[in-house]
Parts: sequence; structure tokens; C-alpha cells
Amino acid sequence: MITPDQLRSKYLDFFKSKNHAVISGKSLIPENDPTVLFTTAGMHPLVPYLLGEPHPAGARLVDYQKCVRTGDIDEVGDPAHLTCFEMLGNWSLGDYFKKDSIAYSWEFLTSPDWLALDPGKLSVTVFKGDDNAPRDDESAGYWKAVGVGEDRIAYLPASDNWWAAGPTGPCGPDTEIFYWVGEGVPPAGSNKGTDPANWMEIWNNVFMQFNRIDEKTLVKLPKQNVDTGMGLERTVCVLNGKTSVYQTESFQPIIAAVEAVSGYAYGTDPAKDPSVRIIADHVRSATMILGDPKGVTPSNVGAGYVLRRLIRRAVRHARKLGIEGGFLGKPAAVVVDLLSGAYPELAENRAKIIDELAREEAKFLETLQKGEHEYEKMLPNLLRNPQKVMSGRLAFKLYDTYGFPIELTQELAAESGMTVDLAEFDAAFKKHQDLSRAGAEQTFKGGLADQSEQATKYHTATHLLHKALRMVLGDHVAQKGSNITAERLRFDFSHPAPMTPDEVARVQAIVNEQIARDLPVTMEMMNLDDAKASGAMALFGEKYESVVKVYTIGDFSKEVCGGPHVERIGTLGKFVIQKEQSSSAGVRRIRAVLE
Ligand code: SER
Repeated sequence: MITPDQLRSKYLDFFKSKNHAVISGKSLIPENDPTVLFTTAGMHPLVPYLLGEPHPAGARLVDYQKCVRTGDIDEVGDPAHLTCFEMLGNWSLGDYFKKDSIAYSWEFLTSPDWLALDPGKLSVTVFKGDDNAPRDDESAGYWKAVGVGEDRIAYLPASDNWWAAGPTGPCGPDTEIFYWVGEGVPPAGSNKGTDPANWMEIWNNVFMQFNRIDEKTLVKLPKQNVDTGMGLERTVCVLNGKTSVYQTESFQPIIAAVEAVSGYAYGTDPAKDPSVRIIADHVRSATMILGDPKGVTPSNVGAGYVLRRLIRRAVRHARKLGIEGGFLGKPAAVVVDLLSGAYPELAENRAKIIDELAREEAKFLETLQKGEHEYEKMLPNLLRNPQKVMSGRLAFKLYDTYGFPIELTQELAAESGMTVDLAEFDAAFKKHQDLSRAGAEQTFKGGLADQSEQATKYHTATHLLHKALRMVLGDHVAQKGSNITAERLRFDFSHPAPMTPDEVARVQAIVNEQIARDLPVTMEMMNLDDAKASGAMALFGEKYESVVKVYTIGDFSKEVCGGPHVERIGTLGKFVIQKEQSSSAGVRRIRAVLE
């Protein structure tokens, strides 16, 4: 048996032995990236470096990273999909390429000194080729060189073997590694192409050589990089001879906690088991999000909304298991115990996690009660309908006005022998969704980590703003979040009261005075302690490497930061603060543009 903690250490140790520097994983909430709500892949925090920024720790890196992906939230509950997972990653920033990457992966997976997986149960995919790049015979050749048979190599199109983190940004062909989860041993000729259901993906090696600027333009990156991501939960699963991540030590204790509160024994009723898995997955994700130092809480927008949906979906499935009141604190405490070794922030935030879960559960239970009450009021009228059909319009009203889920409306209706007109409900729901999606797409239009010139300018302007705020308001001002697009910057900082118009005007004037001085921006690599001793501002609660980049703007500002920045600030234009408002308790938010 191998535990998640053991796999994490083995992975770091293996790549350390191949001269990789161990770097620390980052927050689940990306800094300076307006295009995604969460860190969605292990490589996400590395994007600037894959695009060419030098990394302070060198050109060979290894880490583990917590990730949240909720795009396929509806598939959660099957054997392999999770909304929160850990990715083990190793990177070459213009150092080794395909040959060594493939050889390292194979050695780690199959060597008796490392994971000792049966080579006969592994298969791979490589890129089949299209207009952007030719078939990746080079990678196939290296797989054969380490001993992978031709029949275990599937050549697949870009939809499978071209990896991009977003609509724009670094990308390239990839080669993926799969483990056999079917019965017995894989028959000759079986691979991901011929028999997709029996092969579970465990590792993805991306050969990042391109930057996608827009739909039509792909430019070669200055360096050929390797970006790999190994799914920790899935690899633990196959290493322990299991076929579902829910059978592993990452989930069994959480499932046991759900069994204890519900009295339902997992595995005894196929109709109820998916609910157990969904609760286990969602409570784990919600705990990781609440435990993150960036401090997201349930709300109706952005990451807070995703968190709210996870919690509410868990509560809904709990009702199917007969759990009526609040219960999430119990499985959440198990998650904290399981993952605090790797993520000490969970233990530090234990009380907050449990409190927030209880609060959100209570709110949702109240919503449910209100919805039920409204339904009761409608009931006499509904029962007059001879067809015993509740209109979709009314069901949508319950959903839209009271947040009452359609599944529950259906359950209540069924109790009185009625059905709900789902087609009508869906139509109303779709219309509503299209409206809110149009809004959400605005947020995503930039593409991952928009490195456009304008975004770089906003990034530098953020440093000027940060310093000016400290000069006008005091040293208690600390950055709480930053979000940049090519059109504007948004900056969150700690300050107990609204700024006065005079304070806003002074901050704006200071920034513009500095821009008029056209100060140069310089970068230096330093030890973190030296950087702090030299007066460089660093983000509280952020995890930094031991060597960091420090960006200095003339004699005005000095900050630990990954970059990139402009070379001289005279190019920024006129800095205008458009709005100063509350962001959350004790945190203010400024929105500003460069004209
Ligand atoms: N970018 C790749 C992935 O997320 C490898 O890290 O799968």
C-alpha cells in the first residue's frame, strides 16, 4: 500500500535526484489572472515562466499543487472525476525536452526503486499531427526506446493530444500515460485508442513550444519547455490496485464519516452510492477552498459562488441519504486531518472552515424550508389541475425567487401524485442561464494569463498604486488580491474604512507624478530574507521560494513579484481611479484604468 503522502515525497525525491529544484505549490486562487476563478492545473502558476520569464529557482522544477476544476461538476461521482485534485508536476524551462521527459516518467513509474508499476499495464498516446504540428513520431520513438510496444501507442488528434491551458497562452502537443483498470491483463493491441474505458490517465507530459496569441495565431516560444502533470489521487488508486479514486485512502475516511452521520452503509444501494461520492468530493473541495489563505467564502459571485454550489449540492445529496440537519463539519474535519500534512493552512484555518460550512448549511436549509412553505401555499391550486402536472413556470419561480432546486420540487410534487412540466422549466432555465453566461463570458474573454502589453502596464501600475496607498493611508495597507485585464486593474487591500475623496485624489496624483518621472523598472534575484530585509514588500500568507525576483521602480517601490513589468513607467499613460468600494470586511477595492 502507498499513501498520498508517500507518493508526494517519492515524486519530489525522484525529481530532486534528477536535479530539479523543489518549489512550493500556490494558492487555489490565482493572483493577477482574471481569466479563471481557480488554479485549474499544476502548471497554472508557472505560465509566465513557460512564456519566457526566468524562474528564480532555475530551469528544472518540481512541485505538488492543489487544483480545483468545476467545469465537469456534473460528472463528479464517477470513478475518476474530482472537483479538487492534486497535481504532481515537473518542468523543464528550455532545459531537457521530449527524450529526457519520457525517460524520467518511465523510470519513475516502472523502476523497482520508485513506483514499480507493471510495464505491461501501461500504455501511452501521442499527437497524431495536424496543420499546427506534424505527427509526433519523435515521442513515439522515445517510448519505443524505453520498451513500450507499438501496440500500446495510440496516435490521437488535437482533441486528445494537444494541451492548452486556455484559449490563449502556452500550448503544445502532449503525450499521455495510462494504466490498465480493466479485468486481468490488457490484451495485445489494447490501448487508449482501441479500448478507452479500461485505461485511466495518470500522467500528461506537454511539450510546450507555442504561444497562442489568438484563434489564428500560434507563435513559437523562445524556449522548448516541458510541463507535466501527474494526477495524485488517480496514481494512488492504480498503485493500490483499485479502480476508483473513491476506494483509496484519500476518500475512504471521508466516506466513513458520511456513513457515520447518515447511517447508510456505502456499497449497499447503487441508487444511493453516487450521492455518497458526490458529498465526499464536494466537502473535500469546499474544505480546501475555505482553508486557502486567500480566504474565499460562499457568495453569489465568482469563486464564492462555486463554493456555495459545492456546499449546497452536498447538502441536497445528504437529504437523499436521510441526513436532515447540518453535518458537513464532521467529514470536513476528516479532510483537514487527511491533508494538513501537505497543506498546513488547513489545520490553521480549521475553525473557520467548520464555521463557514455550518453557516452556509444553515442558510441553505432555511432556503429549503421557505421553498417548501411556498410550495405548500401553491398546493391547493395545483391539486385542482386534472392532469396532475405542475407548470414549469411555477417550478422556475420557486427556483429563481427562493433558490429552491428543481429536483426537490419534483420530489414534493411526486408526494402528491404530480409531475412537473420539465420542458417548460428547462426553457425558462436556459433563457436565464444564457443571460448570466453572457455576463460570465466577459470575464473569460482575455484567455489564460493575458500577457499582452496592456496587461503588463497594468501590472506595473499595480505596484505604483500599492506603494501610493501605503504612503497616503499607512503601512497597515497590504495587498489582498489583484485582478488585471487588458482594460483595467482591480486591487484589493486591507483598510478599515472607505477612503475619502481627498485620499483617493492624493493616491492618484502620487501615481501620476511617478509616471511623469519615467522611472526605470529593474529586476534582481535575491534570497527571500534579504529581499524582506531590503524593504521589499511581499504578500502576507503567500508562499515564496527561497530565491525570489524583486522588482524595483526607481527610488519609489520595491516588491517581490513574478513579473513581467514594463521597462520604464513613462509608457503607462494617465492613471485614473474609477471606483473605491468595499470588497469584504476590512478590505477595500480599487478599480483603475490607464488612459
Ligand atoms: N498542463 C498539463 C495538465 O494540466 C500538465 O501539467 O494536464
